[in-house]
Amino acid sequence: MEIFLDSANAAQIGHWVRQGILDGVTTNPSIMLKDGVKDLEKGARDIMNLLGDRPLSVEVTTNDPAEMIEQGREYAKWGSSIVVKIPIINEDGVSCLEVIKTLSDEGVKINTTAILSFNQVLLAAKAGATYLSIFAGRVADEGHDSDALITMAAKWVEKWGYGKILIGSIRGTIDVQNAAVAGAHIITVPPPILEKMTDHKFTRETVRMFNADAKAALLEMEV
Ligand code: E4P
Repeated sequence: MEIFLDSANAAQIGHWVRQGILDGVTTNPSIMLKDGVKDLEKGARDIMNLLGDRPLSVEVTTNDPAEMIEQGREYAKWGSSIVVKIPIINEDGVSCLEVIKTLSDEGVKINTTAILSFNQVLLAAKAGATYLSIFAGRVADEGHDSDALITMAAKWVEKWGYGKILIGSIRGTIDVQNAAVAGAHIITVPPPILEKMTDHKFTRETVRMFNADAKAALLEMEV
């Protein structure tokens, strides 16, 4: 299973690359705004420099399917690690499957985003998307079982040889654990949650005890 960082914060991305656990990065316009990225291309290039070959998802910024194709082509020129994020439908409910199909046929890697149902996974996969982003937190917000959806979707893509199930919209550490156990291929995690996953107050206490005993043992040896 792969772990992506759901962030455009270069310091955080560099930090988690150095920890040796990062397989890629996902962004969206809200993340770019929150992390202060004003120039999309520069922001993406800065992140790509930190990531090397690892994939970076950058989302289109238009509601118009024809413009999405143009933007996708432009983003893809920035480097081979670029993955273009296309929503499954636009804000008016217009299908973006043709956008996914057109860009995929041209060799552009697509991350279909804002997926909230099994059937959206199925259609995006058929249209050629490499990554199928289920928004687990938003599925749960609607009162649905996101873990059941992840399990069904992962089994289906594995059976038929389609893309990877990427789980986003992670709200807490338990969501990461649940998605992993449910069969997610990739989970994209916001930096504060990755930090919490690493930490544990009783681990700190245990290490503190060992450090104190190590000091005491050294003192005894010196006597
Ligand atoms: C990741 O690819 C998604 O864009 C992100 O996880 C969405 O998270 P949200 O539902 O908290 O906005």
